[in-house]
This record gives sequence, C-alpha cells and structure tokens, in this order.
Amino acid sequence: AGRLKAAGDRLYSAACGGIGFESGENSLSIMESRRRVLSGMRPTGKLHLGHYGNVRTWARLQQEYECYFFVADWHALTTHYESEMDLEQNALDMVIDWLAAGVNPSLATLFVQSQVPEHAELHLLLSMITPLGWLERVPSYKDQQEQLKEQDLATYGFLGYPLLQSADILAYRAGVVPVGADQVAHVELTREVARRFNHLYGGEQGFRENAEAAAARMGKKLAKLYVELRRAYQEQGDGDALERARILVREQPNLSLADRERLMGYLEGDAKVILPEPQALLTPIPKMPGLDGRKMSKSYGNTLALRDPPELIEKKILTMQTDPARVRRSDPGDPDKCPVWQFHQIYSDGVQQAWVREGCSSAGIGCVDCKRPIIDSIQGELRPLQLKASEYEQDLPLVRNILKEGNARAREEARATLDEVREVMGLRYR
Ligand code: TRP
Ligand code: SF4
Repeated sequence: AGRLKAAGDRLYSAACGGIGFESGENSLSIMESRRRVLSGMRPTGKLHLGHYGNVRTWARLQQEYECYFFVADWHALTTHYESEMDLEQNALDMVIDWLAAGVNPSLATLFVQSQVPEHAELHLLLSMITPLGWLERVPSYKDQQEQLKEQDLATYGFLGYPLLQSADILAYRAGVVPVGADQVAHVELTREVARRFNHLYGGEQGFRENAEAAAARMGKKLAKLYVELRRAYQEQGDGDALERARILVREQPNLSLADRERLMGYLEGDAKVILPEPQALLTPIPKMPGLDGRKMSKSYGNTLALRDPPELIEKKILTMQTDPARVRRSDPGDPDKCPVWQFHQIYSDGVQQAWVREGCSSAGIGCVDCKRPIIDSIQGELRPLQLKASEYEQDLPLVRNILKEGNARAREEARATLDEVREVMGLRYR
C-alpha cells in the first residue's frame, strides 16, 4: 500500500494545484505526466456548486495527464430506471457545465458511456470472474438500498453497478481515478477484479523466460535498469523503484503489447498484467455546504446551480436560514449555528471571517450585511463560467460534436483493450 501511496501523493499534489512534480528527476516527471486518468459523472443535469470542486480538479488534471471524462448514463439507470429522465438533455447540460468550468476537449476526451458499448461487453466478461460476495460486500450496496427505499434496488443491475464502474475504468487501463470518498471502495473492487483477471488469464508457459527476453529487447542499458529496479522492489520492498520500473516499461515505444504486459507482471509476480490496477485519487475538495447547512444536494433542494443567474443567487442567499436565535437585528448570534458561516469559511479570508464572528456575536452587523460578501463572491466566481456556458448553450451542435469525437476516440481505446481481453479469454474467432 505504501508504494501506491507514494505515487498517489504525487498525483494528489498535482490535483491540489501544484502542477509539476517535486520528484527531483525531471525525465520521470515528464513521463509520469502522460499517465491516464479516467472519471465519470452521472448525468444529473445542470451542475451545482457541490460539483464544482470535482470539475475543477478534472480541469487541472487534464493539463498533466491523458484524461478521459465521461457521462455515466448507464449508471443513472442502475438506480433511476423507473423515473422518466431525459438522459440526453441531462448529459448535454452536464457537459456544458464541464466545458464552462474549464474542461477542455482538446486536452481531454469527453464521451458518453452508452455510446461506447465495449463498457457493457467488458462488464459482462468481468462478471464471469467476479464472486458475488465481492459485490454484496461493497458498502454502497446496502447503504443505498436503505437510503433510496422508495426505489426497488433489489435488481441485478444495481448489484452489478460497481463492476460496471470497474469495466469503465479497466476498458481504458486507466491508472488514476479521481473520485469522492464514497467511491473509493469501487476503485478497490476494480483493483481486486483486475488482479483476479490477470491471475486467471495472464499466465503462460515459460513466462519467466519470455519476460527476460522482453527485458533484453529494451536494450542493454534499460534492461539492466529494469532488473535493478525489479530487484529493489522484490528484495527491499522499494515502492518507488516499482513505480519507476512501471514508468520505464510504459514509456518504451518499441515493445509489443504482450511484452509490455509481461514486463509489468514480472515486476510483481508470474503473470502478464493485461488489466492494470488503478488507483483512486481522492479529490481534495472541502464539502460544499448547501443553503440549509446540510451537504449540497439536488435531493435536498438546497443547491446553487453553476448557471443560476446573479439575481437568483442573491435571492437564494438572502432567504437562507441564519442562526435561529437572531430573530431581531439587535439579537446577537452564533456563527457556528448558522449555515452562512460555512460559506464564509470557504469564501472569506481571515479578516472577513473575524468581522463576521465579531459582528454576529455582538449584533454589530445584520445578517444581510453578513451575506452580502458571499453573494458578491459567488456571483463573481460564476460570472466567467456563465458567460462561457451561454456560448455553448447557443451552440448545441458544437457540444454534440465534442461528444461525438470523444466517443470515437474512447471507443478506439476501449476496443483495443477488448480485443485483448477476448483473446485471452479464448474468444478469438477468425
Ligand atoms: N459511480 C460514480 C458516481 O456515482 C460515477 C462513475 C461511473 C465513475 N463510472 C466511473 C467514476 C468510473 C469514476 C470512474 O459518482
Ligand atoms: Fe449567520 Fe452572519 Fe447572521 Fe451571524 S450575522 S447569524 S453568521 S448570517
């Protein structure tokens, strides 16, 4: 776990805005920067401020990594198969917000899950090797069934939904999956499924000899480096060495796919790595409070949408609940009992926060005074995004085209993986 964490920490610092790596080795950083990131979001329609941090993280990651971001429309059906949803409209609305928030289709591939049917095929094939218990044990399985009691979630699709997510990730052999804390268990499942797959289908006769021959094909110098790094990992558990060896292998342009998989597998064991294990990248974003102090969520009706016009933002904030003890302007209040304070913790600097605490508890300021800077900050933060969004709103063909191109690019990638998965599972028909 420690070795993976080291790589995770580097990624984490990139996601936090520290573009560039602190690892002293420049060439490694450049290579590392080409690693592949994948993440998806359910098409819930227009995004709200609670989503903004995640989308900003995507926009940062795309600068450094090869990124795939997709609309998880099949995932929406695993829980909401009964409700009437316009998935296409929701997808377009969501993608417009991605674009407006800075996700750049010339840096990242944006696509729609259902338009890449390879996800379904891989899901099916992985389902053959996935023990039921692994799915039943995913924490969200029972939790969500409890929470969404009004829906019947005793379905096959709902049980399999984390495995569909595994297929989403593994179809692209993504190394890094930026997700919220609630999704980490799904990435963990993905790792276990990948490991099992490689174990079942990556074995071959003469693996060791083949791996050593593959190393030799990298050239004398690099082969020697590979062997040294492998030994450092296997004999001393040096996680950095493992990560460096992986990068070394990943970046060899003239290795065949099979040799690459052998070399990856040989670092740790005795089978090819056909589906690499991904790593979760926890998005380092503070939870955005909603207008009522609970977590911001559509189902609570306490959101500020990224595209809410300035007047609506003002109105929503002016009508926000404050400390119930402040009935009159002259009553002192306690910021800790007020959801507006939570916004100050995100949007205000220390001086302004001190002004709030002092003014509130002494009744020196009124709640409207207190809310004003929040209104200004949010309106100001969203203004450029809203300008961009309205351009996309007026050019839906452009948005559709971005997705069309993304679908094609994604599909090509997923196809390559599936060709191989089929092959090793004995499904090659000529
Ligand atoms: N399950 C995720 C969610 O509900 C969305 C998702 C689907 C996803 N497939 C994914 C996220 C693959 C990351 C990687 O938020
Ligand atoms: Fe809340 Fe500010 Fe009013 Fe205090 S002054 S109750 S922190 S809105």
